[in-house]
Amino acid sequence: MPDLDRVVKEIAEEMRARADRGAVASYIPELARVDAGAFGLAVVDADGHVAAGGDADTPFSIQSISKVFTLTLALGKFGDRVWQRVGREPSGSPFNSIVQLERERGIPRNPFINAGAIAITDLILSGHQPREVLGEILRFLQFLAGDPSISIDEAVAASEQRTGFRNAALANYMKSFGVMDNPVDFTLGVYFHHCAIAMSCRQLAMAGRFLALSGRNPATGHAVVQAERAKRINAIMLTCGHYDGSGEFAYRVGLPGKSGVGGGILAIAPGKASIAVWSPGLDAAGNSHLGRVALEALTKRLGWSVF
Ligand code: DON
Repeated sequence: MPDLDRVVKEIAEEMRARADRGAVASYIPELARVDAGAFGLAVVDADGHVAAGGDADTPFSIQSISKVFTLTLALGKFGDRVWQRVGREPSGSPFNSIVQLERERGIPRNPFINAGAIAITDLILSGHQPREVLGEILRFLQFLAGDPSISIDEAVAASEQRTGFRNAALANYMKSFGVMDNPVDFTLGVYFHHCAIAMSCRQLAMAGRFLALSGRNPATGHAVVQAERAKRINAIMLTCGHYDGSGEFAYRVGLPGKSGVGGGILAIAPGKASIAVWSPGLDAAGNSHLGRVALEALTKRLGWSVF
């Protein structure tokens, strides 16, 4: 069995040297300021050992990776009623696409495309103040990562709030079908802020442990979710976590994964490890280019795959 620490360090060095980095997201202006040369990788194994390389302790904008945790919260509060609001099929469309919403009467294909994540945010907001719900999401991540210092990057949230016209269109369009309960501005406010949570690879890999350990949080020994629910969240990550790049990610990496336009990816090797990687340059589908390349190298060298 190759040594995990050595493999992680090797990959971090190899990625630093590569010229093909993709393009940093610019549609959220604040994200365009991030150093395209950054690269971080952290792996937490089933025994709690952390192997880290590169910029593994630098916080970055987790963006759509937050959708894994809002889905987990929504399933905890509403159980299978979640599936009346969103589907669980891959969309085959870009993350911010609107086209399927018309034909499918305001029900997004899955909880990871923007429309689906906005619908999930709307669901968990119902009956609460935006600030309360945001606090709950943040505390959930702090608890999972065992790190109370995790916070929201207000500049990123404000930047998206000023320019998030597509998301406003998606939310208003769903509202027109009567499937959103709250004022659109409230829902979008919470959505933009949970996307703007900043975490390092180490914090994110720690937060993902319950998905690698059949729903258990090793710090408390208690279940965050039941094993069957962890299996299902992982399944949706595998089929929908990279939007119209999900097939390619599964083909190359062979693990459930969720990307964000900040350049992060959370990947889960069930029973083995929770992995977080960060490289801000994106491919054409809006997923981290070197993040995927690094995960492909890691899983190959360690023989990790769900297949
Ligand atoms: O709503 C948006 O466009 C962003 N806050 C999140 C999109 C995202 O991260 C897509 N992932 N690769």
